[in-house]
Amino acid sequence: LSEALKAESITHVGIAVSDLESAIQDYCKLFQFESVERLDVGTEGVRVALLRAGQTEIELLSSAKEGTSISKFVKENGEGLHHLAIRVKDVATAIDAAKKLGLRVLDDEPRIGAKGAEAAFVHPKSFHGVLLEFYNR
Ligand code: CO
Repeated sequence: LSEALKAESITHVGIAVSDLESAIQDYCKLFQFESVERLDVGTEGVRVALLRAGQTEIELLSSAKEGTSISKFVKENGEGLHHLAIRVKDVATAIDAAKKLGLRVLDDEPRIGAKGAEAAFVHPKSFHGVLLEFYNR
């Protein structure tokens, strides 16, 4: 098995929500986080809140407009677990290695996510029902 797919950590868990501020409030009522950071992933039309817990984050995802992948997800499934992000050393190399294993990778090249991190997704139908994200941060 190649180094390319070494799982360095679970970097974050993505959770789709319909109202970002009310979700942040609920999470912060229940848990104390080291930090709460709000970001717009402009290219995707998605608003994100990163709730840091140790080396891992909860990534709350909401849609800033109609027709985004997150608004479709919430419409079809309701709010809930959206993706699992695994840190790899290099996303482009991980994409190639995953394709060689026959996985359906949704990105041919790394996409740029929150805070300039590189990311690529693997379709849940090709991986036990989990939308996987390779991430370099
Ligand atoms: Co993510």
